[in-house]
Amino acid sequence: MASLKCVAIFVMVALALQLADAQLPGLQNLINISGSVSCSLNGSVIVNATTPTPPFPNALIDVSCGGNVISSAMTNGSGMFGITLNPLQFPLSNLLSPNCIVRVVTPLSNCSTTLPSTGSLQSPIQFIGTTVQGPINILNLAPAAFQLIGN
Ligand SMILES: *[C@@H]1O[C@H](CO)[C@@H](O)[C@H](O)[C@H]1NC(C)=O
Ligand SMILES: *[C@@H]1O[C@H](CO)[C@@H](O)[C@H](O)[C@H]1NC(C)=O
Ligand SMILES: *[C@@H]1O[C@H](CO)[C@@H](O)[C@H](O)[C@H]1NC(C)=O
Ligand SMILES: *[C@@H]1O[C@H](CO)[C@@H](O)[C@H](O)[C@H]1NC(C)=O
Ligand SMILES: *[C@@H]1O[C@H](CO)[C@@H](O)[C@H](O)[C@H]1NC(C)=O
Repeated sequence: MASLKCVAIFVMVALALQLADAQLPGLQNLINISGSVSCSLNGSVIVNATTPTPPFPNALIDVSCGGNVISSAMTNGSGMFGITLNPLQFPLSNLLSPNCIVRVVTPLSNCSTTLPSTGSLQSPIQFIGTTVQGPINILNLAPAAFQLIGN
């Protein structure tokens, strides 16, 4: 069952990569990297915490590949962000490789003084799925899992 799921995901990613590279006439591809950041050591909501984990608002998020920032955004009041990219400019296969990461540039101490003021949350990027919006084929990506690096 698990291996079947694995194969299914592999096929899905392979199809998306093919789609992104093929640029079917009349169907335009758009990459949407979205996610949310919470005010915790790993940026995730802590399940069953005594007090709910607050979102991390106004945090600077960037996407960098090989150490070069290719795009950035700010989290909104709910700690959510969205970055759209043109796959012709930034190939999906590169974004999904270990070469590229999503980074929370603003230190965690900016959302809570009890959290570290050094290091940054970083995550590889994963493929979630595609959604079609009229003539636009949206390739949805998201951070796989944030980890505090360089603390
Ligand atoms: C990107 O994905 C997020 C989350 O699914 C959504 O809220 C946002 O509207 C999407 N942006 C675009 C341009 O499709
Ligand atoms: C984040 O940390 C919390 C608390 O330590 C833990 O329960 C949760 O599983 C972690 N989430 C991830 C995605 O690592
Ligand atoms: C959280 O609490 C709910 C209800 O008490 C419980 O069903 C669930 O298993 C708990 N989850 C974790 C990760 O502890
Ligand atoms: C943050 O953005 C998300 C996704 O676009 C949206 O659903 C949410 O309402 C926004 N929150 C605030 C406080 O603007
Ligand atoms: C962090 O918070 C301080 C004090 O509110 C502010 O001056 C600073 O610009 C913030 N840093 C970032 C990267 O948002």
